[in-house]
Amino acid sequence: MELRITKAQKVEGTVRVPGDKSISHRAVMLGALAEGKTTIRGFLPGADCLSTIECFRRMGVTIEREGDLVTVYGKGWYGLEEPRQRLDVGNSGTTIRLMTGIIATQPFHAVLEGDESIAKRPMRRVVGPLREMGAKIDGRQNGEYTPLAIRGGKLHGISYRSPVASAQVKSAILLAGLQAEGTTSVEEPYLSRDHTERMLQAFGIDVQRAGNRVSVSGGQTLRGREIVVPGDISSAAFLIAAVMMVPGSSLVIEQVGINPTRSGIIDVVRAMGGHVEIVNERLVNEEPVADLHVAHAELRGTVIEGELIPRLIDEIPVIAVMAAVAQGRTIIRDAQELKVKETDRIATVASQLAKFGAKVTPTDDGMIIEGGAALVGAEIDSMGDHRIGMAMAIAGLAAEGETTIANAEAINVSFPGFANLLRQITR
Ligand code: S3P
Repeated sequence: MELRITKAQKVEGTVRVPGDKSISHRAVMLGALAEGKTTIRGFLPGADCLSTIECFRRMGVTIEREGDLVTVYGKGWYGLEEPRQRLDVGNSGTTIRLMTGIIATQPFHAVLEGDESIAKRPMRRVVGPLREMGAKIDGRQNGEYTPLAIRGGKLHGISYRSPVASAQVKSAILLAGLQAEGTTSVEEPYLSRDHTERMLQAFGIDVQRAGNRVSVSGGQTLRGREIVVPGDISSAAFLIAAVMMVPGSSLVIEQVGINPTRSGIIDVVRAMGGHVEIVNERLVNEEPVADLHVAHAELRGTVIEGELIPRLIDEIPVIAVMAAVAQGRTIIRDAQELKVKETDRIATVASQLAKFGAKVTPTDDGMIIEGGAALVGAEIDSMGDHRIGMAMAIAGLAAEGETTIANAEAINVSFPGFANLLRQITR
């Protein structure tokens, strides 16, 4: 599918974005492992989260879905059944890495695999610590790549110091730890998104947290409940950027999750001079939620590094787009993790953004963007990466002439309805 974008005169309106991807995955997983029924409202019906539902159905869990309302009939942690076929995670890193931790505890065998992008993404970061806990997992190149073959069983707790700030690594180990003997703890260099910790608490689990270290003890039971999923700040980020790309624009985005481990985009837009007001803040099943009032301003360059990186890792493609039109230079460093996302996002951002006439220099751990470019419409390829497709569509709103995005169907991975919503708020 091809998406066509033309230069916008104005962005305005009051909108909601689809449910948070990370929270939607976790609600299905914990619901499937819990005793009793879990109802999920505001579920993200994007391809990634649908992959998670399908994988649990293949392990015998009954899951009903009507739009963004999902009901999971949990049968308890050991109510899962050995899948008769390979489990297909599609494009979803969260699905494969968290499920590897869950299946490592199960008394059965399962094989996990996904698409071409998943086949290139590193898995030993979860396979290694799970093996230390006693799990038997194999994959290409000694467990680095899919397909992963898992023979689950009895595990013992470990104290793991993760070299990367990754919520997928942390979550896989904690989920395995819930059925391991003794205590399991994970310490990370910077705090990554903490949705697993918060949702485990909502499901009745005792989670101990201190700084960047989190621990759980084995043998606890999850209790099914109702989960309301907030709008995904990573999707809202594209709309915030749209406002910043088009002078005179303003937008209200309602019910967005503003968990501090995810809200780096708000800090950065503000540091660049943009207006984002947080209104009506409240807590919904342990997650902070608010309405965002966003107004255009001329942006200036900034430096993004260190502990800020995990708080906005998925937003870097669209931050690069804003940096391209900002005054001055933007430097992004400490973001090596971009290389192992759905695509190598240092390379794909640089190659696609350059087509608009933006000045981007890729570096080993990020990129340097010289702002102030007058963007011109371009022929873009999403490269199969949802966030590259959307970020470049936003660049197209500020580019002279027409922009086309090839392979735009990838956008359905996290933001179904993106093109329609964009059409609705632009003129
Ligand atoms: C996610 C964690 C992040 C993020 C991804 C979703 C999650 O990945 O980039 O989009 O739901 O746990 P890493 O754990 O690899 O940093």
